[in-house]
Amino acid sequence: MFGFRKLTAVAALLGSVFASGAWAEGTVEVLHWWTSGGEAKAVGELKSAFEAQGGIWIDSPIAGGGGDAAMTALRARVVAGNPPTAVQLKGPGIQEWAGEGALNDVQAVATAENWDSVLPPVLAEIMKYDGKYVAAPVNIHRVDWIWASPVALEKAGITEMPTTWEEFNAAAEKLEAAGLVALAHGGQPWQDATVFEDVVLGVGGPDFYRKALVELDPAALTSDTMVAAFDQLRTLRGFVDDGFSGRDWNLATAMVIRGEAGFQIMGDWAKGEFLAASLVPGKDFYCIPTPGDGFVLNSDSFTFFKVAGDENLKGQQVLASLIMSPVFQKTFNLAKGSIPARTDVALDDFDDCAKRSHEDLLKATEAGALVPSMAHEMAIPRSVRGEILDVVTKFFNSDMSSKDATTALADAVARAM
Ligand code: BGC
Repeated sequence: MFGFRKLTAVAALLGSVFASGAWAEGTVEVLHWWTSGGEAKAVGELKSAFEAQGGIWIDSPIAGGGGDAAMTALRARVVAGNPPTAVQLKGPGIQEWAGEGALNDVQAVATAENWDSVLPPVLAEIMKYDGKYVAAPVNIHRVDWIWASPVALEKAGITEMPTTWEEFNAAAEKLEAAGLVALAHGGQPWQDATVFEDVVLGVGGPDFYRKALVELDPAALTSDTMVAAFDQLRTLRGFVDDGFSGRDWNLATAMVIRGEAGFQIMGDWAKGEFLAASLVPGKDFYCIPTPGDGFVLNSDSFTFFKVAGDENLKGQQVLASLIMSPVFQKTFNLAKGSIPARTDVALDDFDDCAKRSHEDLLKATEAGALVPSMAHEMAIPRSVRGEILDVVTKFFNSDMSSKDATTALADAVARAM
């Protein structure tokens, strides 16, 4: 009874606010790291939708894939007492900022719009702090993908996409023999870690992934399975071209787009680049999950920092509602390469890669094979992730043995805990 009365009161409040047009404006300063072609197109959808409702959008992009530079900038803004109104954040980062008391909740909007009934429970939990929504999710990205150039594959005489790491290695050798770059890669810690976690899943399976990269179990980190994962990472390192160091991920995607490279191992934000270049999936580029069972989950969301001023508060509420609207979830994700966070948005207009992502997500959820991305800040605190990334990148850029890498990994985790 109380719950119903409360709900009715919130609905009435929101109804009168919307009816009076009081929320039709609002201002948001949005800090995000969506600066590549596909990303900019996707965030442009959010900006236009917000402006179409009469809002003022102040764009604060911080270039740098994976968001590490953005997170450093955010910390500086908060320390200076001047946080942005809305910030792209995820996973434990949401909990950490909420725990510091830095976030406004958007529970009134979530209750009025019944977010609980349209979000997968696993995602809804990540968005809440103390039982209240403090973040609004825009999408579900899959991290474990291989992207390929049909032109390059044909030149190398490859007729099938690889479904095991052995097949991948054999195909990569053919690409090299044909004078092409086998694996387009950018040597940045988060990109090295993206490939690493996909390999850990492929080599060890979802239970092992969870033990090692979520629970940080020392036995798993130093196991023979982890040695085997580093061995495969070493093999992949051999397929990368000389110019890889420091290269941005979208420039690596561009190598596949141009047919100079056969493969890229990257999350489906890479698809946003292919689409922005007007390429057609299944014809001009191919997608296939990286070898192994499971699904590495990444999801982007926006949080709402505590700022003064009614305009800002209005902006936060309007943005939260907009982000979760079915129409926006569709248009945004068609550009971004991901699939909607809402479960009730039809995928008819999405391509086969997106449909595969959705099907595999359901299957993985059922089979207990859905794992959160370590590289993309969905699994463990930022400080521990940083230590793991250091080891992976050091391994990638040296002749460290796989066995030594596993010890370094366990030591790094122990230091950070
Ligand atoms: C984000 C994506 C983004 C990618 C590259 C990931 O961590 O979730 O939205 O496109 O980084 O910048």
